[in-house]
Amino acid sequence: MKLAKLDGKLPITLGVTKDSSLLTIDASSIDGTLNIITGKKGCGKSYLSKLLMVNLVGYKATVVIFDLNGEYSSLGMTNDGKKNIYYDKIHALTPSQNFKVALEQLHLNTAMGILVNALHLPGTSAREFRRLWKSLKERGKLNMQELGEAIRDLNCNQHVRDALASRFHSFVNSGFFTDCIGEAQLLNETLIKAKDQGGALVINLKNTSNVDRQIIVEYILGKLVDSLSNWKLKAVFLFAEEAHLYLRETYWDDIVTRMRHYGIFTTFITNQPDTIQETIYRQADNIFLFNFTNEHDLDVVSRAARVDSETVRSIARDLPPHYCLSLGRVVRDFPIVAKVRSLDIKTLGETRLFFKDMN
Ligand SMILES: Nc1ncnc2c1ncn2[C@@H]1O[C@H](COP(=O)(O)OP(=O)(O)O)[C@@H](O)[C@H]1O
Ligand SMILES: [Mg+2]
Repeated sequence: MKLAKLDGKLPITLGVTKDSSLLTIDASSIDGTLNIITGKKGCGKSYLSKLLMVNLVGYKATVVIFDLNGEYSSLGMTNDGKKNIYYDKIHALTPSQNFKVALEQLHLNTAMGILVNALHLPGTSAREFRRLWKSLKERGKLNMQELGEAIRDLNCNQHVRDALASRFHSFVNSGFFTDCIGEAQLLNETLIKAKDQGGALVINLKNTSNVDRQIIVEYILGKLVDSLSNWKLKAVFLFAEEAHLYLRETYWDDIVTRMRHYGIFTTFITNQPDTIQETIYRQADNIFLFNFTNEHDLDVVSRAARVDSETVRSIARDLPPHYCLSLGRVVRDFPIVAKVRSLDIKTLGETRLFFKDMN
């Protein structure tokens, strides 16, 4: 512990080591970094990411989480359902319910990103859409209703019109777009709050379809890059659960290069280590490794981690649940195993079982 000099100004206590010392990392060692939390299902990955998130929020950081299973929205509550100190800083955003966007607030580039990347709109149609958007905007008619009519009345090749009409249909179906500006203010308001006082934006992706999920992620990432490049935000800690389910191919490299440069610092959380690209492992500053028994999974992480593969294999195989091997900057490259401490936070992460309450 002395060698690892774990004594910064922004302590985050992760847990307790075998000899009962506290493992305390410094928040600055996950600042500006790329992190991976991986291990078998049920061993405590999401729990650790919750611990990191609330501590970052406690230090006034802005945190965004792509919450695939809808398990982060109650971080502001204690186990017995009372408000905890984070209550005012946890903002649960459920797309198409309390989280919508108006076309008027959407940048053309973000709209194009959604159309091309999430909805695979071909090039010619994309050019046509760009023209249409600009013309509606000039006339102050940029809303869903006008857009729908403009596409219907478009005087162009029928394939192009059909292509645009089907994407418009996806926009409508997602329930994510609205013409009511009042409905579309929550994200901006919460971003401002999260910037001033620290806060976590929990993007609830549970119950969203594959396509909608990609639309939402495309929108959020566009919005973050936009806010960061205008200095409306200083930096964002992004937590992404099972990112391969919604992150398009080209974003992986983007996240380690362009987005990181803008100030998006990502933590990937997954129980399938082979869904994270090799480049991410190579660039990762920190890896929090939980138990793996499967040889293939061990292969993937041991090849990539910042320590020799035998060490990783032998330790990871024997880790009990809730025990984590920390590697990288957080421990100054001294691999340290600790039992992650428990939090008085309602985590909703409980594994659903049929026989649980029957004995
Ligand atoms: N360090 C810990 N202390 C107490 N309970 C924990 C701890 N880590 C995980 N748990 C509990 O164990 C269960 C599984 O943890 P979770 O983080 O959801 O696993 P994973 O994300 O790896 O599938 C949850 O009910 C969670 O609350
Ligand atoms: Mg989990």
